[in-house]
Amino acid sequence: MSESLAIIVLAAGLGKRMGSDLPKAALRTREKPIIQHVLTTAAKLNPAKVIVVTGFKKELVEQAVRDGASSASYKLDNIKFAVQEKQLGTGHAAKSALDELKDFVGAILILYGDVPLISHTTLHQLLEMHSQSKATLSLLVLKSTKPNAYGRIVRDTKGSIQRIVEFKDCGLSEFGIDEFNPGFYVVDSAFLKPALEALKNDNSQKEYYLTDIIAKAASEGQNIKSLLSYNELELQGVNDYFELAQVNHALLQDQIKALMQSGVSIQDVNSLYLDPNVEILPGACIGPNVQIKGRTKIAANVSIEGSAHLLDCDIHEGAQLKFAVKAEQAVIGKNTSVGPFAHLRPGTVLQEEVKIGNFVETKKAHLAKGAKANHLSYLGDVSVGENSNIGAGTITCNYDGHNKFETNIGKNVFIGSDSCLVAPVKIGDGAYVGAGSVITKDVESDSLALTRAALTSKAGWAKNKRAKAKK
Ligand code: UD1
Ligand code: CA
Repeated sequence: MSESLAIIVLAAGLGKRMGSDLPKAALRTREKPIIQHVLTTAAKLNPAKVIVVTGFKKELVEQAVRDGASSASYKLDNIKFAVQEKQLGTGHAAKSALDELKDFVGAILILYGDVPLISHTTLHQLLEMHSQSKATLSLLVLKSTKPNAYGRIVRDTKGSIQRIVEFKDCGLSEFGIDEFNPGFYVVDSAFLKPALEALKNDNSQKEYYLTDIIAKAASEGQNIKSLLSYNELELQGVNDYFELAQVNHALLQDQIKALMQSGVSIQDVNSLYLDPNVEILPGACIGPNVQIKGRTKIAANVSIEGSAHLLDCDIHEGAQLKFAVKAEQAVIGKNTSVGPFAHLRPGTVLQEEVKIGNFVETKKAHLAKGAKANHLSYLGDVSVGENSNIGAGTITCNYDGHNKFETNIGKNVFIGSDSCLVAPVKIGDGAYVGAGSVITKDVESDSLALTRAALTSKAGWAKNKRAKAKK
């Protein structure tokens, strides 16, 4: 089949309903420009030639086509561009591809560049049916009970396809038809060329409709075959942002399904959002209301309790993210635990078995194995050595209003609660900082540093005060 197959992809249109400056084919789904989806699928059919018809902002569509080839989902070798100078309709667009097909004899598959989810299996079935039944023209037909704006398939009393009526041109009797045109045709080259030349634009949109080649084939008594499909999602065209959202939803559900089938446990598929390049290994467990974005990697046996927003993070095996964690460009080490209510900002590196507890914010913070900051801290521009404990309420004062400075905390250090470490400052290994201290100078290893006004306690003072107040 492959030697005699050519594919035309129509992508010259404006995308009137998208309200965007981008041509529709270059608009992105969550994964890639729409045209790249179509060309990736087309490539799987091993066509001799693919002609992409461009027009409106053609440089952008061509760029999107080239970008897709460089990311290796298809090859550019057999892709040609044809230009439709004015967007006079789908029939006119298909005609613009004919120059590139002058010497081609065989089956021509025509696809619209705004239907991204079509599978190669469905197209393969259509092509098989076409060649086995030696049809002149074969098309996919969508059966559906849902209202839509697709063209309607009109059959005669014997059930033979007569023509396609565009939604905008439907008469009363045609609105109710439950067979629709999703826009996939295989046409014999000998029939296609004259049929496109003969198209007229006497319709409500004053456009040359590709769909009118069906009426021509029927009037000539040509062999027309149709392949029924009930898969609305696969055939969904993208004509507005709602339809784009439906396509994106389907792509996300596919990604989630594949993860679950690989062994990732997901508690609520409806409240998990994933970017396409996220990696999650089998054995990870993800709670509700979680967004995982960018190039985040999640290893086996990581548990994410729920309500998390993770961007470009690297999360190692056995790490535990308790309820409500926001993390960006952070490394979370093996068996490390974070949260609830923690905020890890870019440059955070937590090694193995670190603990970051509630209401802790980190930025450019390196915490070595076993270090802990369990409550209410700001740790910015800081390194913390192994097994050091950062008490509740500790703040690294890293900013003087103009510049940022670093704090270095050695290993086995104990920072008492409510301490301020005014950077630049170093706390040596094994040192203690007493609670409530403001540390402005380096602290030697194994010493105690304390800045605290001496305690005064006045016996009976409160009792006397109360007595005075009563009088
Ligand atoms: C088209 C079909 C309709 C079908 C629907 C399925 C026609 C006349 N109608 O309608 O029967 O139900 O698709 O999705 O074919 N394009 C060009 N040049 C043009 C016009 C369009 O290249 O002058 C391209 C567009 O970029 C797009 C594709 O053709 O990729 C379809 O055009 P669109 O305007 O979306 O057609 P529909 O109204 O959806
Ligand atoms: Ca369309």
